Amino acid sequence: MRTYLCFINYAVFCIYLNLSPKWLGVFLKNILVTGGAGFIGSHTVLCLLNGGFNVSVVDNLCNSSFESITRVESISKKTVVRHCIDITDDVALANLFQSGSFDVVVHFAGLKAVGESVSKPVEYYNSNVYGTLCLLRQMIDFDVKKLVFSSSATVYGEDAPTPYVETLPRGVTVNPYASSKAMSERLFEDFCIAQPDMSVSLLRYFNPIGAHSSGLIGENPLGVPNNLMPFMAQVAAGTRERLSVFGGDYPTPDGTCRRDYLHVMDLADGHVKALASLETPGCKVFNFGTGNPHSVLEMIHAFESVTGCVIPYDIVGRRNGDLAEFWADPTKAKNELDWVATRSVEEMIIDTWNWQILNPKGYEI
Ligand code: UD1
Repeated sequence: MRTYLCFINYAVFCIYLNLSPKWLGVFLKNILVTGGAGFIGSHTVLCLLNGGFNVSVVDNLCNSSFESITRVESISKKTVVRHCIDITDDVALANLFQSGSFDVVVHFAGLKAVGESVSKPVEYYNSNVYGTLCLLRQMIDFDVKKLVFSSSATVYGEDAPTPYVETLPRGVTVNPYASSKAMSERLFEDFCIAQPDMSVSLLRYFNPIGAHSSGLIGENPLGVPNNLMPFMAQVAAGTRERLSVFGGDYPTPDGTCRRDYLHVMDLADGHVKALASLETPGCKVFNFGTGNPHSVLEMIHAFESVTGCVIPYDIVGRRNGDLAEFWADPTKAKNELDWVATRSVEEMIIDTWNWQILNPKGYEI
C-alpha cells in the first residue's frame, strides 16, 4: 500500500513538473539568452525571470541596447547578467561558457531584415549560420545539451499550403535571411542525430507584434521600419506621413496580404513553455502563431478604431518576395506544450501604441 501511495505521489509530482515552469526552474536553472537585448529576446528574458530562472544575456548590440534589459530588471525586480559579445568571437564565447554554468541556451542572436539580407548575404550567413555553429561548438565543449532556437515561418518557403503545419517539409527559400534560418534548422537536426542526448526545439514564429503592457519594452527598429506594425505606429504618431500598403490585388478577401499576427508576450511565454519540451532528447519543431490571419487593411482599421488615430495610407505596388497569405496551424504547440496565444489583435495594438507614445525615440533617452 505504501509503495502504491509513493508511486501515486511520484506520478502527480512528475505531471506537475511537466506543467509548471516554476518547477522547471529548479532543474534548468541557468539560461543563456543570445540576442536577449532585442525585441523578442527582451520580452522572453522577462518571462524567464518571472518563471524563476537565472538569466544571462549575450548580445553584440548591433541592433539593440542594454537599456531594454535595464527596463526588464525594473519590471521584474530581478537582475540579469549582461555580456556584450559577438557569438562569432570564439575566444570571448569560450570564456563566457567557462565562466558560467548554463543548463539551456535560448538562441535569438542574428540579423533579421529580409531586404537587407539580399544586399548583404555574407553578413547574414556569417551572423546567422556561422554564429549558430560557433555557439554549438561551445555547447559541445562545455556539455550544454539543451537549446531553443528562434526560427521563422519563412522556412516553409513560397509554395506551402496554408495553414502551415510542422509536418510540411521546409520549402525553397528565396532570400538569405530565410535561407539562413532554414540552414540553421538543418544544422540542429543533423547535430541531434549525431548527439542523441541533445534536445533542441525549433520555434517557427509567425508575425510577432505588440509590447509589454507597461510600455517599458517594445520593438525598437533603427531607421525606417520594414515591418507593418512599427511603421503604422510611427504614422499614427506623426513621425511618418503615410503608410504604403504593398499590393491591393492579391487573391485575398480584400486584396491585401493576410498574416498571422501574435502578441510578443504570448510568444515570450511560449519560450518558457518550450523548455518543457527539452526534457526529452531530439529535435522538435513548433509553430507559434494564433491560427487566425488578418489583412493589412483589417490591421489599419483595427488600429484606427482602438487608438482613435487616423492612418493615412496609399495602396501601392506589391513588395518583392511577399506571399499573399499564410498562417499557422498551432495545434502541436497546444497539445505538446500547452501553449495557446491568448491576446487579441486589440491588445496587440493597445500595447504597441502605449509603447510608441511613451517611447517616441525607442530606447534613446
Ligand atoms: C517579415 C519577413 C519575415 C519575418 C517577419 C518577422 C518579409 C518578406 N518577410 O514578414 O521573413 O520572419 O517579417 O516579423 O519581409 N506591409 C505594408 N506596408 C508596410 C510594411 C508591411 O503593406 O510598410 C505589409 C506587407 O506587405 C505584408 C504585411 O504588411 O503583407 C506584413 O509585413 P511585415 O510586417 O513586414 O511582415 P512579413 O513580411 O509577413
